[in-house]
Amino acid sequence: MSQQPISLMEMPEWQALQQHFSEIQNKHMRDMFAEDDSRFDQFSVELNEILFDYSKNRITKETIGLLVELAHACELPQQIDAMFDAKKINATEGRAVLHTALRNQTDQPLVLDGEDVHHQVRTEIERAYQLAEQVRNGDWLGYTNKPITDIVNIGIGGSYLGPQMVTEALSPFVKPTLNFHFVANLDENQIDDVLAPLDPETTLFIVCSKTFTTQETMFNANTARNWFLSLVNDKSKLSKHFVAVSTNIEAAKSFGINDQNIFSMWDWVGGRYSMWSAIGLSIMIAIGKQQFEQLLKGASEVDQHFRSAELANNIPALMGLLGVWYNNFFDAQAIAVLPYSQHLHRFPAYLQQADMESNGKSVALSGKRINYSSGPVLFGELGNPGQHAFYQLLHQGTKLIPIDVIATARNISGDNKHQDALMSNVFAQTEALMKGKNEQEVRQELESGSLNQEAIDNLVPHKIFEGNRPSNTLLLQALTPSNLGSLIALYEHKIFTQGIIWKINSFDQWGVELGKQLAQSILKDLSADGNASSSSDSDSESNNSSNRDSSTTGLMSHYINQRN
Ligand code: F6P
Repeated sequence: MSQQPISLMEMPEWQALQQHFSEIQNKHMRDMFAEDDSRFDQFSVELNEILFDYSKNRITKETIGLLVELAHACELPQQIDAMFDAKKINATEGRAVLHTALRNQTDQPLVLDGEDVHHQVRTEIERAYQLAEQVRNGDWLGYTNKPITDIVNIGIGGSYLGPQMVTEALSPFVKPTLNFHFVANLDENQIDDVLAPLDPETTLFIVCSKTFTTQETMFNANTARNWFLSLVNDKSKLSKHFVAVSTNIEAAKSFGINDQNIFSMWDWVGGRYSMWSAIGLSIMIAIGKQQFEQLLKGASEVDQHFRSAELANNIPALMGLLGVWYNNFFDAQAIAVLPYSQHLHRFPAYLQQADMESNGKSVALSGKRINYSSGPVLFGELGNPGQHAFYQLLHQGTKLIPIDVIATARNISGDNKHQDALMSNVFAQTEALMKGKNEQEVRQELESGSLNQEAIDNLVPHKIFEGNRPSNTLLLQALTPSNLGSLIALYEHKIFTQGIIWKINSFDQWGVELGKQLAQSILKDLSADGNASSSSDSDSESNNSSNRDSSTTGLMSHYINQRN
């Protein structure tokens, strides 16, 4: 007789954590640090040029031991092997999950459905490198034999956020004679603004879409094509100015892109994990083959670490488990990712997709609804601007929001004249969040000033900081391609770790489908005769316009009236 899998919260390892939580939930980190001056040594791990300090968390040695036991009970090490070994762990789509193969540095074959994945990856990436080097060297010429100056990446989600984030993060490594533009929005203002100053003779469009069916990307690609043809008036010239990256080669061809200008990817690369493939073509053009290889190398080193390090010393596993600790035991609803490095300004946006599209699920792999909390709300912003905007809530609000701070010891593009001031803010913020300021300290401070007793009494409660607010600090030596590759891979595997604990599929995204279906049906009605309530025969039951609610029909009618 087959046994029902035991639910997460009934596992003895979970219950042991619950018991431990009740014992330490009120313990203040201030006291933990005072009692044990080896916390930093105990709770930090170094991997190459990255230091991960997790000592400012509401944990003891026992907490980590219990979290690691939970991870073992959830078979995290076996699941890591299953991912790397090309098992079809994306069960709802029947796919392997092999972004790690995109950066594998070994010659060992990896066979999936009879094909050597590593061979496929190397072949395709070499083709992409060739194009990238031609553009960089000025050997790829436009239709009037001028070199390319502007690269426009058209794509959305994973076909946009990763390439844009990395191109910005590595701006000191970007070839200065080239300009990069990223178009994702369906609002035509974006593409119009990008196209306005461009010259079709020197512009290269990269249409990035795994499926080559995504509405936003197809609209923007068509607009770009029409813009080009309106100025050049000759379809035969398109081939020098449009390339594509997709699994859907036929659709890219029907769009009018030449065979040799289409780069493939595979269904075993999730969109949000795809910047390591030819989807990263704009990155390759920006930083060149050598630096792109460094990016891959940095990620691959983290892959090896994730696969081989003991869980108690395994950075992505620890990041994931600490997230579970706050999410499920402290009931924290959100996390903040706060880079202090300007060039990482798109990192929170990138991570929002990586994390929230992966772990924003409420059904377990078993098909049953889960009765515990899964992925948190992730938000973030550059550190200093954030300090003067929303950090108030982090310090004194009623919500517990664990944070990740990311900083670099060295600024490779400047002369480091701001660096000590910048880093003093990094260290001060996490110290303030951890320690807080108690009543006695507030009183002492106020009493040394000129306020009378009544004014002091009134002010004291407002100036108290409870503290005990957790943070991780990721301190990179510098923002190099290799360290950035490592940083991204750390987060990818953190997300994987949490998906395993929560027993969900981190690699599908059915939640984005309903809105897409409804938009299709609504667009049909908007473009028909302007009658928002007309029903269309071909609509499926759930999309049928006659099923629309009064709010949607009302809004549509109002729009149609305003539009006309
Ligand atoms: O709608 C969500 C999504 O499917 C993402 O997962 C993906 O990264 C994005 O859309 C873009 O998809 P595509 O690369 O197929 O255009």
